[in-house]
Amino acid sequence: MNLSVIGGTGYVGLTAAVCLASKGHLVFCVGRNEEKVSKINMGIPIIYEENLEKLLNDALEKKKLVATTNLKDAVKESDVSFICVGTQSMEDGSIDLGQVEGASVEIGQALGEKEGYHVVTVKSTVVPGTTEDFVVPILERFSGKKAGVDFGVCVNPEFLREGRAIRDFLFPKDTGIVIGALDERSSSFLLEIFKEFDGEIMETSLRCAEMVKYARNAYLAKDISFANEIANICQKIGVDYLEVRKGMEMDVRIGKGRFLDAGVGFGGSCFPKDVQALVSKSVQSEIKPRMLEATLKVNEEQPFMAVRLTKQVLGALRGKKIAVLGMAFKPGTDDMREAPSVRIVNALLSEGAEVAVYDPIALNSARKIFGDKVIYKKRVAEALNKADACVIATEWKEFAEPSIYNNMRGRVIIDGRRVLDPRKLPQGFIYHAIGFPKAVKT
Ligand code: UDX
Repeated sequence: MNLSVIGGTGYVGLTAAVCLASKGHLVFCVGRNEEKVSKINMGIPIIYEENLEKLLNDALEKKKLVATTNLKDAVKESDVSFICVGTQSMEDGSIDLGQVEGASVEIGQALGEKEGYHVVTVKSTVVPGTTEDFVVPILERFSGKKAGVDFGVCVNPEFLREGRAIRDFLFPKDTGIVIGALDERSSSFLLEIFKEFDGEIMETSLRCAEMVKYARNAYLAKDISFANEIANICQKIGVDYLEVRKGMEMDVRIGKGRFLDAGVGFGGSCFPKDVQALVSKSVQSEIKPRMLEATLKVNEEQPFMAVRLTKQVLGALRGKKIAVLGMAFKPGTDDMREAPSVRIVNALLSEGAEVAVYDPIALNSARKIFGDKVIYKKRVAEALNKADACVIATEWKEFAEPSIYNNMRGRVIIDGRRVLDPRKLPQGFIYHAIGFPKAVKT
C-alpha cells in the first residue's frame, strides 16, 4: 500500500514510517521542517532510537520511503494516512490540538482534490472523543466529503517505549494492536497493514481506542506511584522495599514483571502528559479523578526524596560537590522530557550545591535545560572525581559497576534507581537508596 505519515519527522511518526516501509509499503514521511526532511532523505535520523538509522537507510535504498514537506501530494498519492503529530500539554493539563487541527485541515483539503477512497488514521494521543468530535468535522468541512462514505477514519494508538520503539512497533506481542474504526471498510485497510505484524489485534470504536491508550498509561503510571509510596513507607519503618516487592510478586494476582520499580519517579513524553490530560478530561466530565491526581502528586514529590536522603547523610549541601548520574528519563534514550533528574538538579542547586552532571547520551539535552548552572562531564569518572556525593537518577548499566565510584572524595552514594548492590561496593562508602531501610557504611 502507499501510506503517508503526517508528523513523520517526529518520534512516533519516524518510527512508524521506517517500520511500515520495512514491510514493503511505500511511505511518504511528511514534516514541516525542511532541514529535518532533507536529513531524513539523506539517511540521518534526527532522533536517537536503536536500529532506526539502519531501517531508515534500508528503506531509502529500496525507495520505500520519501520524506517531504508536501502533505497534500503525499495524501493524494496514498491509501492511508497516519496523523502522528504532537499533542503537548497546555497549562491546564489538557492537550494542545493545534497540530492535529492543522494536519486535519490540510488532509481535508487534499481529500477534496483526491479521487478515490482514503483512510485517515489518528495515531497521535488524543483524549476520547477527539477523532469523532474534532477531527472528522474538520475533514468533512475542508474536503466537502462525508466520513464513512467518501473516506474512512481510524484510531490506532501507539504503545512504543522509548529506547525500544522499533522493536515494539515491529513485534507488538507485548502490547497488541488496537484499531478503532468508524466502519468496517475503514478497519479493513488497517487490518491489511497490521496482518504483517505478530501481535493480537483488537477492533473497536474510535472513542474506545482513544481511551485504551489513556487507561493503559494511567494504569502503569499508577503502579509506579504506588510502588514509590510503598517504598517510602518501607524506608520509614526500616524494611527494604526490594524484599517487600519480592514478597508481593509471589502472589500470582500481582505477578512478576509489573511496573513496580520504586525510585525517583516516572518521566518521559507519555505518562506525565497522558495522566494529566485524563485528569483534565475527567474534570470536564464531572468526575473527580482521585487516583489519577494522587498518581501525579506522588510522582511530583518523588525526585525530592533523593535530595532528602542526600541531606540526611551529608547535612547542609551548600558548597558540596554533587554528581548527578543520569539525565535521561530512562536508559536507552537522550530524552529529558519530564525527567526526574531535572527536579533533582534544580533542588540541589537551590540548596547551594555545586552540581556536575553525566549521562552517556543526554548531555546535549541537559545543556538546553540547565545552561551554565551545572558542570557537564563527558565521562562518569570525571563527574565523580572529588565529588562529596552522587545521586543516581537513571538506571544506566554503567552505574551498576562498583569500581566507577572509587575516585569520589566523600564516597556517599544515593541510589535513586536501586542499580547498585551495596554489598558489592568496596569499603568506606556510605550507601543510601530510595526504599532502603537506612544508610549503610560498607
Ligand atoms: C511509556 C509506555 O510504556 C508506552 O507503552 C507508551 O506508549 C509511552 O509511555 P516510555 O515513556 O518510553 O513508554 O517509558 P517506560 O519504559 O514506560 O517508562 C516511563 C517512566 O517510568 C520512566 O521514567 C521509568 O524510569 C519510569 N518507571 C518505569 C519507573 O519509575 N518504575 C517502573 O517500574 C517502570
